[in-house]
Amino acid sequence: MTGNRKDDHVRHAVDQHRDNTGANDFDSVTFLHHALAGIDSADVSLAVEVAGKRWETPLFVNAMTGGSLHTGEINRQLAIAARETGIPIASGSMSAYFRDSSVADSYRVLRQENPHGFVMANVNATATLDQVHRAIDLLEADAIQIHLNSVQEIVMPEGDRAFGSWPRRIEHITAHAPVPVIVKEVGFGLSRPTVAWLRDAGVTVADVGGRGGTNFARIENDRRTAANFSFIENWGQSTPSCLLDCAGVTGIDLFASGGIRSPLDIARSLALGACATGVAGRFLETLVGRGAAALVEMIREWLVQLRLISTVLGAATPADLAGCDLLITGDVATFCRLRGIDAASYAHRSPWWNESERRSHP
Ligand code: FNR
Repeated sequence: MTGNRKDDHVRHAVDQHRDNTGANDFDSVTFLHHALAGIDSADVSLAVEVAGKRWETPLFVNAMTGGSLHTGEINRQLAIAARETGIPIASGSMSAYFRDSSVADSYRVLRQENPHGFVMANVNATATLDQVHRAIDLLEADAIQIHLNSVQEIVMPEGDRAFGSWPRRIEHITAHAPVPVIVKEVGFGLSRPTVAWLRDAGVTVADVGGRGGTNFARIENDRRTAANFSFIENWGQSTPSCLLDCAGVTGIDLFASGGIRSPLDIARSLALGACATGVAGRFLETLVGRGAAALVEMIREWLVQLRLISTVLGAATPADLAGCDLLITGDVATFCRLRGIDAASYAHRSPWWNESERRSHP
């Protein structure tokens, strides 16, 4: 049953990304171009520090799959792509392994193919500490992701209906986990109070996992035959809105994921305060549609292009992108207004610009 569900998710997600017209809220975030801001591309470093470790890139393969023969093969190819491009990778939910240890290989392959990479295990918010340890041990994981997916669960006929224990469980896991804890949404977004709560609970990274990419409400609705849940497909906050909402929450790092379509979306995410960016559906669609070599080529190309975007913007590091001027328009600007966020301040925050302005208007 679980194996079939995992295979279904892959099929539906690939279909969604193949049919995707591509518009999402990242289109409402534009860099203000300063024609003299550019630096030398050789002076750009894409390296970031995450959970106390250096990542060579601010890009990772986000949680997707495992638990069946087919998804084990997908994990193997994703792991090879991660190894060949030097980017971190997360496992899909390991619940199937807790129920049936015979599927261990479909997850273990992530470490076997990528012995020196940064690998993240993935559990749900009701996982016991013993399960968390088993997940980390199986993958020799460098970090553990806990996914929050209440909206997905309610659309699944067989889904959970009891979410009240999640905060207590997260606190418990975070207090005892032997590796850094990342809490992530699966496409409906994390709000500012949620991220502040996670910070207070000791969570190392919050992955905002916003709306705009793979849509799990739609996937589960398409899978069910009984009651129609299509009204819920637009639930949640988009990834740029989440990042703006969470700006200034200190003491916890942010990952951006949900609807990343291009290196420009990575740059936008970093400019909105993320320290790294996760991609799931877009990579899966490339892998399933065009093969592992095409995925490797795409990731390499994205990293080259991200470096070039940073070069034009004068951002020597990913953190420097968070000082670039941004024009925030459309639904994201409306979100900011309703949440009391000063969207206009993002349009004139660049140190380069402000310095020149001061000199020309002493
Ligand atoms: C996912 N995602 C996911 N997340 C998670 O924490 N545990 C999981 O088991 C899965 N499973 C899964 C399967 C498939 C086929 C996809 C495409 C995605 C969610 C994923 O990590 C991410 O949060 C969302 O997909 C949004 O990012 P994209 O797809 O828009 O880049």
